[in-house]
Amino acid sequence: MPKVLVTREIPEAGLEPLEGFDVTVLAEGPPGRDELLEAARGIDGVLCTLTEQMDAEFMDVAGDDLKVIANMAVGFDNVDLDATKERGVVVTNTPEVLNETTADTAFMLLLAAARRLGEGERLVRAGSFEAWGPKMLLGPDVWGKRLGFIGFGRIGQAVARRARGFDMEILYTGRSRREDAEEEFGARYLELDELLETSDFVSIHTPLTEETTHLIGAEELERMKPRAVLVNTSRGPVVDEGALADALEEGRIFAAGLDVYEEEPEVHSKLLELENVVLAPHIGSASIETRDKMAVTAAEDLRAVLRGEQPKNPVDG
Ligand code: NDP
Ligand code: DGY
Repeated sequence: MPKVLVTREIPEAGLEPLEGFDVTVLAEGPPGRDELLEAARGIDGVLCTLTEQMDAEFMDVAGDDLKVIANMAVGFDNVDLDATKERGVVVTNTPEVLNETTADTAFMLLLAAARRLGEGERLVRAGSFEAWGPKMLLGPDVWGKRLGFIGFGRIGQAVARRARGFDMEILYTGRSRREDAEEEFGARYLELDELLETSDFVSIHTPLTEETTHLIGAEELERMKPRAVLVNTSRGPVVDEGALADALEEGRIFAAGLDVYEEEPEVHSKLLELENVVLAPHIGSASIETRDKMAVTAAEDLRAVLRGEQPKNPVDG
């Protein structure tokens, strides 16, 4: 019976497609490296999450029977694709099923950062809400403003659908033009610098790659408007967190909404002190329905590979 390792407790629905395999499920929290490697010995397939590094060492410990790494995430920066190619290991991910939920999170952060929800909540909980105030907790309007996307793929466009309801003007940048999306959203393509200078809100939706690491640093933040809001639900290292903390502290941009961090789960100490940043603990796709779908998508693809069939979501690299 093929041996399957599931590196974290996942929604029950994701275990059903794995019936018939010899399945080991590790604990709910991220496994330690030693525990992970110990559990990897002799497996045929692994269903992992973004908290596990799927590197050459892992694959070597797993051994020659390892055929598939099914990542329960759309982002696959935790998987070493050179190492999987060398060993002929198939990698799969979970695109599409999380688009709408992650877009909700991005828009939630955008609204919360602009309209100072975190600060307001802290004020109420501290017992400091004394009266309605004509100048209390004012932030920029969202509706009717310009929203610039860095990366305008599946999730970026799902955010744009929400922005349409707020009468926002859509700008985007990326490696290539998206003419279908330009038509659908009336979106305008701009180079990154111009997008940063022009947008009232900037939302990041690129994968983490060598090219996108620190795509937004001090220089880029300097180009943004003083009332601009930056939202990042992609991966932490796309933004230079120290530079962002400085820009927020000095009021060079109005606010930020973050779901992801450079050294996750660590958060830059300065960000923790600032009022003008909303901090979420990487919950972009964390709805009950979507996590079921992600688990099932990953498990079905793992099963397909172990049965010698084509997976639905192979990662080409
Ligand atoms: P897509 O592949 O559909 O879209 C990614 C977009 O980024 C594409 O438009 C791509 O453009 C663009 N892009 C790639 N490289 C660059 C670059 N160097 N500069 C500018 N743009 C670039 O991905 P998804 O929308 O499905 O997901 C995006 C990312 O969101 C994931 O990789 C993941 O890391 C993150 N994510 C985070 C979640 C969370 O919980 N916070 C949940 C889900 C996803 P082009 O096609 O031209 O290359
Ligand atoms: C992903 O899918 O890449 C997220 O970060 C978790 O949903």
